[in-house]
Amino acid sequence: MGLSDKKRIFSGIQPSGYPTLGNYVGAIKNWAALSRRFECVFSVVDMHAVTVRQNPDELRRKAVEMFALLAAAGIDPEKHVVYFQSHVPAHAELAWILGCHTYMGELSRMTQFKDKSARHADNINAGLFTYPVLMAADILLYQADLVPVGEDQKQHIELTRDVAERFNNLYGDIFTIPEGYILEVGARIMSLQEPDKKMSKSDTANPGNVVSLLDPPDIIMKKFKRAVTDSGADVRYAADKPGVSNLLTIYAAMTGRTIPEAEAEFAGFGYGAFKAAVGESVVAAFKPLREEFERLLADQGYLDGIIRANAGRAAALAAPTIARVKRAVGFSA
Ligand code: TYM
Repeated sequence: MGLSDKKRIFSGIQPSGYPTLGNYVGAIKNWAALSRRFECVFSVVDMHAVTVRQNPDELRRKAVEMFALLAAAGIDPEKHVVYFQSHVPAHAELAWILGCHTYMGELSRMTQFKDKSARHADNINAGLFTYPVLMAADILLYQADLVPVGEDQKQHIELTRDVAERFNNLYGDIFTIPEGYILEVGARIMSLQEPDKKMSKSDTANPGNVVSLLDPPDIIMKKFKRAVTDSGADVRYAADKPGVSNLLTIYAAMTGRTIPEAEAEFAGFGYGAFKAAVGESVVAAFKPLREEFERLLADQGYLDGIIRANAGRAAALAAPTIARVKRAVGFSA
């Protein structure tokens, strides 16, 4: 896509549960790769997380763990601005202003809102509805050019672009219009037991569906050995073979192979041996990550210091944009 080295990357991840293999392939791994070439701002979006009920102490702990995991995955928090969303008040300020420029009809069309309100029927709060506005504020506040996300966030990025264009048309050139950056392979990792469903950290009903980055190796292997495959016996990527296709995608992402290379490698394999090999590729990729994560978590002093410092760095990056927005809409200095 002709990326230039001057582009700024922004993305976010909710600290609402342990990150899954889906988050790793669709986001974290890709972020780490992009961070070697671009200036990155990555947010642990704790304000998005409270759209569903959280245990406060657990949320605080999970946010720090998410930060440590991102660092363990190779995103250097000293070089890049990795920070907690709630530490930068400008997110909430901009979300309010953008909310006044977003239509109810646009938000009603968001499929994630429809899904989440079906899953949390007892708590369909206004925050769940305006969630994409806060997400637009996250992105636009940092004048991001590229937003690497999984397939499920595509609609939110499109809304962000629409709102940014509307705002620019009204007030002048305030926001960079961001582009989504969605992987061709791995943007939608599916559940292991129900491969027609996205692997999601909030899927607590069937633990066999979800592989967490912090699952011990024996659990990872067990989950892969039990993964649902398809009728037939060949290891082939095809629309009528969602289980096998998902496993091939995971293997390709873990080993840096293409899908055809992975297919060729497993030609003649039975499903049992195939599933074990995919599990082993995940165990091997997660091992150094887990070790570094544990090392970092043991150094709470370092984490507290860098998290505090990065709140200041993020706020400083956001300051010029929120100041321009406030002036543009008519607030006095
Ligand atoms: P979240 O926390 O649900 O997921 C974080 C990232 O992981 C991707 N992802 C997946 N990719 C492939 N396969 C899967 N099964 C899978 N599950 C999740 C998501 O697409 C996402 O990129 N609203 C966002 C967080 C957010 C954000 C932002 C993202 C808040 N503000 C600004 C980008 C820009 C979310 O809930 O992601």
